[in-house]
This record gives sequence, structure tokens and C-alpha cells, in this order.
Amino acid sequence: MYLVWTISKLQAYNKGVSDKFISINLGEIVVGEPLPTSLHLYINFRFLTFRIEGDVIDRATYDRLEFKKVKNLFIPAAEKQKFDDWVKNRARQEAPAVPLSPESQSLALVREDVHRTTMDIFQSSHPDKIVAKTLEASKKLVDEVMKFPYAVKPLSLLQGYSKGTVDHSVNVSILSVYLAQQMGYAHQLILQHIGTGALLHDVGKPRVAIDDNDSPEEVENKMKDHVDQGVTLIESESKVPNEVKMIIAQHHEFHDGSGFPKGLKGNNIYDLARIVVIANVFDELVADGQGTLVERQRKALTVMDQVMFKKFDPQKLDKALRILKLGV
Ligand SMILES: [Fe+2]
Ligand SMILES: [Fe+2]
Repeated sequence: MYLVWTISKLQAYNKGVSDKFISINLGEIVVGEPLPTSLHLYINFRFLTFRIEGDVIDRATYDRLEFKKVKNLFIPAAEKQKFDDWVKNRARQEAPAVPLSPESQSLALVREDVHRTTMDIFQSSHPDKIVAKTLEASKKLVDEVMKFPYAVKPLSLLQGYSKGTVDHSVNVSILSVYLAQQMGYAHQLILQHIGTGALLHDVGKPRVAIDDNDSPEEVENKMKDHVDQGVTLIESESKVPNEVKMIIAQHHEFHDGSGFPKGLKGNNIYDLARIVVIANVFDELVADGQGTLVERQRKALTVMDQVMFKKFDPQKLDKALRILKLGV
């Protein structure tokens, strides 16, 4: 009798507490901007405060939640409107600057499909499954980009706003395939290698152990290991072409030797990796920028052209900037 009374009282209490919170999707969170409300996790039947109003969810934190498969978080129910306004404001900034043509809509659908697959790839720990899914996804992407070889595509279509590594990987893959194709790489297999390598380039990230108490500098330092972690994971799978492995191993190597892990220089960096390096830095700069998506894209292109130019293969950078500038 006592137990029944306790349980019913506990249920009534939990109901009272749960009325005070409302669930939101992880994907609704705007990364890098102060939260308009507090944010809570539901663990062991209790709501725990995860972040308070004004805190910023950075990309590393977003990644940790995504890699741990946290799909829902909670906000105080009374602040739902405030939260929705915040989300809507971001959606307005991300909206494509141009209306979508039928061919663009088709690419947008493939992008959504590849995004779902990439989420599975990052949450899986089976190298063979990762490889099979990635090859399939990159084939779809390449087929789509190759449908209209001479069409200039708006950058807002090739690249969404990267909240975390999954978004980023899809962006880098689409951008790399598009750049390679526009630069004159016409062979389907080559484009698939670059698409696959780009989709997997950061696959080591979920495997880097980060402590919740690590400072942003410590996280950044530890994260450098994601290159070797990615290589180790993929090396165990014999079906991965060497080209793909080289892209994963060299995607942080810079033309002037200032990259990592090996500090390779110039032509010692594999040809296709040099294209992925450009797409990777471009997407990082856009994700870390301020303003609307198009404003961020324009700023990133200027920074690569005028500040960071020594880090890239000069001929490829020249071509890439010309191609990308047509899309903004
Ligand atoms: Fe990386
Ligand atoms: Fe990356």
C-alpha cells in the first residue's frame, strides 16, 4: 500500500515537473549564438540543467550531443515562443538567396538523403558498414552533380550552415565533387573517390575521447588526433581505395607545410586531397563566421584569397575561387 502511494505521488510529481518543460530537437539549436532559454537533459527520470540562458553551444559540444545520439533536449515550456523566434531568425538567414530550379531541388533531395546516411556513418563503429554506406552515398552525390556538368550552382545549395561534423562532412563532400568536376576531372571513379574521401575525412572525430571539463584549447589539441583515428578505422577495411585513404590522411596538410599531422608540402600532398583541403577550410570559415550564409561565404572566399592563400595549391585555389565566386 505504501509503495503504491509512493509511486503515485512520484508520478504526480514527475508530471508536474514535466509540464514545466517542453522537448525540442537537437537540430533546432543555433550553434555559436547565445541561448535564449536554459537547456535541459532528461536523464534517469530527471531534468538536469545542461546550459543556462546566454550560454553558447559551440560546434564541439553540438558534435558530442550528436555523436551520443541525443536527439531531444528540453526548454522551459513558458519560454517556447522565445526559443521559436530564435530558431526562425536563423532559418531566415540560411534561406537560399535564389529560388530553387527543378535541378536544384533534385540536388537538395539527394543532399537530405546523404545527410541521413552520414549521420548513420558517424554513429556507427563497424568499418565495413561505414565504407559500404559511404560508397553508396557518394555515388548518389556524384551522379547528381554530373547530371548538369556545365551548370553553375548557387553556393547556398552546395553548402548549408554546418552545425557540427555531420553537416560539415556533407558540405565538404558536395563542394569537393563540384569543384573537381568544374576543374575538369571528368572521370566518374575519380569523382567518387573524392566524394567518398571528403564524406569520411573527419570520420575519426567521434573516436577522440573528450572530457566534459576540457577547455576549448584542450579540445582543439586533442582533436588533432582525429586524422590518425580516421586512418586507423578505415585501414582495417580492405575495400577502401587508396585514394580515399590518402584524402583522409592528408586533409589537414597545407601547401606551405604548416598543416598536420605530417607537415607535408606542395606536391607531396596528394592531388585530390588538395581539393578537399580547400573545401574543408572554406566550410570551416563559413561555419565560424557571422551574418547570413551568403555573407559568410563571401567573407570566407576573401579570407582564403587574401590571408590564407599560402596554405593551398595556388593553381587549384585560383580555379576554386573563380568557381565558387560564381555561386554567391
Ligand atoms: Fe578534419
Ligand atoms: Fe573537416
